[in-house]
Amino acid sequence: MALKIAALKETDAGERRVALVPDVAARISKLGCDLAIEAGAGTASSYVDAAYKGVSVEASQAAMIASADIVLSVNPPSVAAISAMKPGSILISLIYGRNHPELVEALRDGKISCFAMEQVPRISRAQAMDVLSSQATLAGYYAVLLGATHMQKILPMMTTAVGSLRAAQVLVMGLGVAGLQALATAHRLGAVTEGYDVRPETKEEAHSLGAKFVDTGVDATGQGGYARELTDDEKAKVRAVLTDHIARADLILTTAAVPGRRAPRLIDADQIAKMKQGAVIVDMAAEGGGNCEGTKAGETVQVGPAVIVGPVNLPSCLAEQASELYAKNVLNLLQQIVKDGKLSLDMTDEVIAKTLVTHDGKITNDGVRQAVEGPASPPAASATAPAAKG
Ligand code: NAI
Repeated sequence: MALKIAALKETDAGERRVALVPDVAARISKLGCDLAIEAGAGTASSYVDAAYKGVSVEASQAAMIASADIVLSVNPPSVAAISAMKPGSILISLIYGRNHPELVEALRDGKISCFAMEQVPRISRAQAMDVLSSQATLAGYYAVLLGATHMQKILPMMTTAVGSLRAAQVLVMGLGVAGLQALATAHRLGAVTEGYDVRPETKEEAHSLGAKFVDTGVDATGQGGYARELTDDEKAKVRAVLTDHIARADLILTTAAVPGRRAPRLIDADQIAKMKQGAVIVDMAAEGGGNCEGTKAGETVQVGPAVIVGPVNLPSCLAEQASELYAKNVLNLLQQIVKDGKLSLDMTDEVIAKTLVTHDGKITNDGVRQAVEGPASPPAASATAPAAKG
């Protein structure tokens, strides 16, 4: 029997994306799989049921899941959905296991092999499966448009019959995937752009996008290409340089994140008080605690002279293409694990090994296992071992 792959309808509030889109479904069928989608799953992202040619549209989620070999989702499914899965079947979804121990336990106990899409390693070979990047790219673009609609100014320089309007100053803080896309978008819209990041290699990337780089003289390169936490002295040095640039900006986009930690504070209340009247901040880190003092996730607030926008789930605002990219990332992963219409998990493959968080009744990711099951207990003391001091 052909493998059955089923895509869930998302249930998180405000979520419009779907894990499978019609064009990608056609390409997945060519791997020798039967496809199913929960009725209405793609409607909010502009993919109506009828557009899924050759895909079975199923009214009952439980029945669909129970017969599926592979279940696709964007957000972590409910415990009930996981519990309905067949032992030995596969879940491909964002999971964020450290934040959802109950889901990881259900996956482990149900003997589900779970590919957590946020765990795809950031290596060149895995870029086509990198959901964090594909979604952050769209979010970075959209954040600029969102900020522009809150400004009382235009972004480009404009000549009018009564004189010229100056181009807006846009500052992007945090030049990862989203930040670089924000810089590119603001530049295309005619703004004068500046970028800032604690990783010095981003300087060249900012320049290549037509932006200046705010150089603070602090290098915060950490492990695995991510930033490390700064010391207090470093933070003070950075703050002094940045305060000037923040005060000159008409629009600021903040995107800074340090994996596993609360979002770093990049802009405090004193710096906000020095901003121009009517300046706008879009805090893309709002969901992770915010990069600015006063950010409220999911709200737009006036703080002193500035408006702070705290968007949540920006990719969902571009649900049609966010779903398309997500589905393509999933297709690229499926191509690694479905061979000749059969499942084939090569545990020696770095991408498969690092992305799997549960397999065969075990939690296979060290960080997630520690968060869910606690630290591994030390080996039992040998009878001849000397007694511990103290
Ligand atoms: P992220 O979402 O974790 O963080 C966004 C940015 O915030 C990063 O550039 C980070 O350096 C910066 N940041 C952190 N603390 C800061 C602070 N205090 N002040 C200013 N900026 C601060 O980043 P993302 O977009 O997930 O990328 C993480 C890394 O992975 C980057 O080095 C990126 O180039 C790399 N990457 C590699 C890929 C690959 O080779 N396949 C794919 C995607 C990203």
